[in-house]
Amino acid sequence: MALKVGILGLGTVGTGVAKMLLDTQGRHSLLNELEIAKVGVRSLKPRSVSLPDALYTTDLESITTDPDIDIVIEVMGGLEPARSLILQAIDHGKHIVTANKAVISRYGEEIYEAATAAGVYVMIEAAVGGGIPVITPLKQALSVNRIQAVMGIINGTTNYILTRMQTEGGDFDSILTDAQQLGYAEADPTADVDGLDAADKIAILGALAFGGRINRDDIYCEGIRNISAADITYAKNLGFVIKLLAIAKLPNEPDLNQNLNQNLNDIQVRVHPTLVPISHPLASVNGVNNAVLVEGDPIGQVMLYGPGAGEGPTASAVVSDLLQIAASPTQPEQTNPLLVCSHNHTLSIVPNAEVVTRLYVRLMVKDTSGVIGKLGTCFGNHNVSLESIVQIGIQNDLVELVVVTHEVPEGSFQKALAEIRQFPEVIEIPSLLHVL
Ligand code: NAP
Ligand code: HSE
Repeated sequence: MALKVGILGLGTVGTGVAKMLLDTQGRHSLLNELEIAKVGVRSLKPRSVSLPDALYTTDLESITTDPDIDIVIEVMGGLEPARSLILQAIDHGKHIVTANKAVISRYGEEIYEAATAAGVYVMIEAAVGGGIPVITPLKQALSVNRIQAVMGIINGTTNYILTRMQTEGGDFDSILTDAQQLGYAEADPTADVDGLDAADKIAILGALAFGGRINRDDIYCEGIRNISAADITYAKNLGFVIKLLAIAKLPNEPDLNQNLNQNLNDIQVRVHPTLVPISHPLASVNGVNNAVLVEGDPIGQVMLYGPGAGEGPTASAVVSDLLQIAASPTQPEQTNPLLVCSHNHTLSIVPNAEVVTRLYVRLMVKDTSGVIGKLGTCFGNHNVSLESIVQIGIQNDLVELVVVTHEVPEGSFQKALAEIRQFPEVIEIPSLLHVL
């Protein structure tokens, strides 16, 4: 008997899903057992997909409470009413497929607890990495490894902007405006360019990789608005490209000289622009593409790469979740353990000051003798070991310096920098970036 599917939202993703379900030739045969029963939208306007008029409704609760519907696909976006409709559908015994990373990263605990109690699945492949299968591999094939790190480029908009800044040498503001005109960036780009979308996604990936919940508010998050064409050029000269990375990882083995009281079970979770060595696999991920690098024992490094957004890729991920449900037991008392969520504790996040990382800082200083030595001494006093200090150039009696550190506790670096800011020779510190 066919599984009846209700779709909440028929925008970019919903349209792609409907098209795939209406045209199953050449796809997995189990898709023929899925039938679109209702589609919930805000307004009954003409649509680009050919569905009978009778399937449309603006009453979304008539979908989440319909006893005939087995699976609800939530592709409407936003926090409310999406969260309430998901919970209502679960309460009515329906499996959920959603692409909504904002809801899952904030209300995952509430939603998964309700789903476990109701014996239904909540599937989220489309929430991270668009068309790239990354959730299912983390839950299944890769879960036999001890994961040490999951990191990646998981926001297509920012990667598109940074790639163009890299190749064209343009400024952030002008490329953002162009990206908006071309439809690559939204009219309100805040969630993308300020790193919030990537933080939602790394909360989800980190939870799967490390087997516990992540409090979304604990994630350090920095976007790309302050990245300048100058930094892109200097980074390039030093052998790096700048990428917005989302990182969830276990701390490195502590260096006894650093005297850190680290708990090796705590994880680092952060989103920030990062100087990535050009030889690193993530350095060549360009344009709107996404990539997720997983490092585990004993597998080593695996990189999953592909289109991170768009109608077709995201629909592929949603429909792959439908397929998994169609292939699994759907009775509450016998759910597939590889599909359900088993997290029952919240992971502890390493405070930012204790994160051990390499850093890049650009300074404008007065052209006076001994200034480089003074900077080096100050960093040394705080046990901040330097990899290089490079004098980039001289402008109007000011010297531009770029300092790259070895791996150091971020707190020690910040203390040194606070002192350096007070030096009379230091006129400006235009940028501070992390280095992979
Ligand atoms: P979209 O194009 O804006 O479509 C949203 C759809 O939901 C529209 O059909 C809209 O109805 C409907 N809707 C929204 N609020 C509603 C409400 N209160 N009542 C009734 N209907 C409502 O969004 P999208 O790009 O498809 O994204 C959907 C979800 O997928 C989001 O969570 C997004 O983060 C996620 N996602 C998107 C992509 C992507 O490439 N677009 C990739 C990965 C994940 P009307 O058509 O009547 O306005
Ligand atoms: N705004 C998101 C991005 C869409 O740019 O990656 C996919 O989640």
